[in-house]
Amino acid sequence: MKRVVVLSGAGISAESGLQTFRGTDGLWEGYRLEDVATPQAWAANPALVLDFYNQRRRAVRAAEPNAAHRALVELEQAYDVQIITQNVDDLHERAGSTSVLHLHGQIRQARSTRNASLITDLGDRDIQLGDHCPLGSQWRPHIVWFGEMVPAMEEAVEILADADVLLVIGTSLQVYPAASLAFEAPRRARRIAINPDAPREVQRADFEVVAATATIGVPEVVRTLLKAVANHDCTRCTH
Ligand code: APR
Repeated sequence: MKRVVVLSGAGISAESGLQTFRGTDGLWEGYRLEDVATPQAWAANPALVLDFYNQRRRAVRAAEPNAAHRALVELEQAYDVQIITQNVDDLHERAGSTSVLHLHGQIRQARSTRNASLITDLGDRDIQLGDHCPLGSQWRPHIVWFGEMVPAMEEAVEILADADVLLVIGTSLQVYPAASLAFEAPRRARRIAINPDAPREVQRADFEVVAATATIGVPEVVRTLLKAVANHDCTRCTH
């Protein structure tokens, strides 16, 4: 089975009603990321940080996967689909994707501030000041903040090493090291970027650009990939 690797960003969840970070009415228009998404912010004002993530968690709970998330599930019929996402929402999982690697953490989880490997599912709960882990320390959002290591990078590079197709969906490719993954696929891989305003990084590189929103572009690309397998179209296969 050929492997399709997906690198997704906030744009794939935009049509589910979740704000992106950059561009008009993006999250970073309303907040300074230095105030809510860094270890320094956490040390200075944990209540503000917790409130920021509690609000986003409620928005994720109220959101539903969209046609783009669902199309990637359909693709699993004929491909080994590996999703690497910068998103902290769980819409890929709720759509039914079976292999999702979160580079920047998961908003539905919390982790101990005493032992980073102590992680818990929040379900529908928020995190408040005074909510302590079994070790007696404050729970924090299980999110990779700016300036923190991205532990999943090594695994992501390994996944990309066997990519036959790379789909880069709804990301501005402005945040490293995650953005570097868009250029990690082997030379033989077919590269497709789906974004109504594709970043220049992919415009320059050898990507096919589908200038469309995710709910239009992703189902369209999935149909093409499924057809290629159905017709066993060698011109598009990579042996
Ligand atoms: N369909 C597809 N793409 C869209 C849509 C849509 N409906 N709407 C917007 N986009 C595109 C924008 O053109 C932009 O390229 O999604 C991208 C969103 O970019 P960002 O807001 O920068 O989000 P992202 O690239 O995921 O940010 C990466 O930055 O703040 C950190 O940790 C945060 O994971 C995040 C990282």
